[in-house]
Amino acid sequence: MASSFSEGAFLKLATEGVQQLVPYQPGKPVEELERELGIANSIKLASNENPLGPGPQALEVIKDLLPSINYYPDGGGYALSEKLAQKHQVDAANITLGNGSNDILELVTRAFLTPQHSAVFSEYSFAVYPIVVQAVGARANIAPAFAEDHATMPLGHDPEALLSQIEDNTRIIFIANPNNPTGTWLTPAQLEDLFASIAQDIIIVLDLAYTEYMDENLRPPIKQWLEKFPNLVVTQTFSKVYALAGLRIGYSISNPEIADILNRVRQPFNTNLLAQSAAIASLDDTEHVTKSVAMNNAGKQFLQQAFDDMQLAHLPTMGNFISVNVKQNGAALYDRLLQQGVIVRPVANYDMPEYLRVTIGTQSQNERFIDTLKQCLES
Ligand SMILES: Cc1ncc(COP(=O)(O)O)c(C=O)c1O
Repeated sequence: MASSFSEGAFLKLATEGVQQLVPYQPGKPVEELERELGIANSIKLASNENPLGPGPQALEVIKDLLPSINYYPDGGGYALSEKLAQKHQVDAANITLGNGSNDILELVTRAFLTPQHSAVFSEYSFAVYPIVVQAVGARANIAPAFAEDHATMPLGHDPEALLSQIEDNTRIIFIANPNNPTGTWLTPAQLEDLFASIAQDIIIVLDLAYTEYMDENLRPPIKQWLEKFPNLVVTQTFSKVYALAGLRIGYSISNPEIADILNRVRQPFNTNLLAQSAAIASLDDTEHVTKSVAMNNAGKQFLQQAFDDMQLAHLPTMGNFISVNVKQNGAALYDRLLQQGVIVRPVANYDMPEYLRVTIGTQSQNERFIDTLKQCLES
């Protein structure tokens, strides 16, 4: 029988929210670039991964477990949840495991949003928030960020603006701290004031993907805040400082009732066997974390100094990346860097067309990036 479907016919069948979705654009994989350009030795500073690679303890566990991947993982993630509960001084009932913290962001929207609801987040905040909100057909209320000439936090979250976007039908507010792609942050005192002004029937998602890179005095007192704000869902990940992005493992800490709701929505085996055990090992490997953070701090200083020397304005950052204003079309400059085997991230999709976001790499990667950037800016 001849098909009666024409192009676009399936899209018309999709839900309204999905029809309008713009897919997330991941950083270009090294292998793909090298194949396309016929080059070798390229470097990827595009997805805020840990350039040191996974720690030795995590690698050991993964090798040991490889012969067991014929078995399903522990669907409840008992050992990892216990370990995380210990780390955060909460109960395992407060923990929900996710296939990356993106999984948790999606679980929250599926559990709490319908097309009759809205979610609030800031301009220039993480690209996954609009996707997960749109996917369930809910509305995104986007708060203006601080202006580019703001004295301390250019393009950062503005608490007043966030509050003013809340409506009667708002069910979730997303706050990334520090935020990606800007790197900007709110202090614990600012966050606490903000949370105190949000009604407790609105779920506050505090996305702490980069929290380990923050100065210690800026990291939130999670346990204390959970007691004070029962509507708080803190998300964290093993993709950044713990260097397990490829295994996809993240988690949330919340009131047990919210954790129970999220656990109802998730797939029964949403986190895999290798990821669960590697995550436990990486939590134990404090040496690798300390080394990664120290390298990030040194790399941050190096890059910031280099940008200053080149008179390129850059946003303040507490993450493992920096957004720099290149004073020209960022996408075109990104392409020129690509030709030289340096992959960074253009951020026009975040409405920052003159910026590039670069992940802080190893010292040699940072040097190569700066040298190549200089060449590309001169050419
Ligand atoms: C702010 C923020 N939140 C969450 C994530 C998601 O990380 P993952 O799903 O790998 O845990 C990222 C990743 O880049 C991020 O930048």
